[in-house]
Amino acid sequence: MENTEKGITTAENYISDLFAKNGPDEYEYQQIFDLVDNLTDSEVLSFRKYMKPILNPNTIIGFSYTKPFGYNGDFFIIEKIYQRYCNPDKQYIKWDKYFHEFPAAIAVVNRKTMAIEMFEKLNNKANGDAKNVLILGSGPVSETFEFFEKNNDSTLQFDMLDLDKRAISFAKVKNAKYLNSMTFHHKNVIRFAPDKKYDMIWSAGLFDYFKEKHFVYLLKKYYEYLNEGGEMIIGNFDIKNPSKKIMEILGDWFLHHRSEDELKKYAIQAGIDKNKIDVFKEPLGINLFLRITK
Ligand SMILES: C[S@@+](CC[C@H](N)C(=O)[O-])C[C@H]1O[C@@H](n2cnc3c(N)ncnc32)[C@H](O)[C@@H]1O
Repeated sequence: MENTEKGITTAENYISDLFAKNGPDEYEYQQIFDLVDNLTDSEVLSFRKYMKPILNPNTIIGFSYTKPFGYNGDFFIIEKIYQRYCNPDKQYIKWDKYFHEFPAAIAVVNRKTMAIEMFEKLNNKANGDAKNVLILGSGPVSETFEFFEKNNDSTLQFDMLDLDKRAISFAKVKNAKYLNSMTFHHKNVIRFAPDKKYDMIWSAGLFDYFKEKHFVYLLKKYYEYLNEGGEMIIGNFDIKNPSKKIMEILGDWFLHHRSEDELKKYAIQAGIDKNKIDVFKEPLGINLFLRITK
């Protein structure tokens, strides 16, 4: 599919052909990414008009576009990504299948796997002692649920923090078996005042929504609540996220993408010694993790 020569008219025909067969097949996935990446600003409105049949909460991308909970990246959409949920309706199923192949969606699933591995490492290190973990912007709390399912002997105690009451209710039901190891706080991370220190502070899918000023403020604030030997791990999408444009155009989903150097710079601005800072990535390299040790 060439989007350059005949521009948006070609795109309209291409998309109407896709809808005629209820959505893209695998061989068309890259064509759509390319089409979106080549759209000019003036073509975006028309493109969204052609895509209207799926820009509603029945598809994952449409759920993001319409924001039924008032903001992007709510617990419900993240849980759909984790569960690889596809609406069974034939008008939507192929579009949801396509969404799960967005590199950014795969990176989100990867970060859950990484969280579980980090908790397992801490639990092994704890060697039977209690260790405290704080999760900032805890959402559906799937990573912790899966961690407990695999590690019945865990001695980790989790504090979960989320601004959205619906996220907390959902997470409590999901984690009903493990509530003796979890405390939920319905609080804004900016205002939360912890009553203890933590061995690990984990946050994925939250700091990408904050401007630099708030990012640095939160690093500084939560570093104070880290135990000696503890670590704070903060996820953020990389500037090289190949799904950036499609997320913005179809999902109206805007994030502050950041480079490794920017993340390190924020930690230094927060007053943290540069020897205590490093950045690692999930396997696709799309989600970066700033790690700060104490
Ligand atoms: C994209 S989700 C990520 C959820 C989870 N960390 C994960 O990776 O599965 C972001 C979560 O942060 C919550 N959130 C957004 N802003 C917040 C704030 N200022 N304080 C606390 N939670 C917030 C949202 O309600 C949502 O549940």
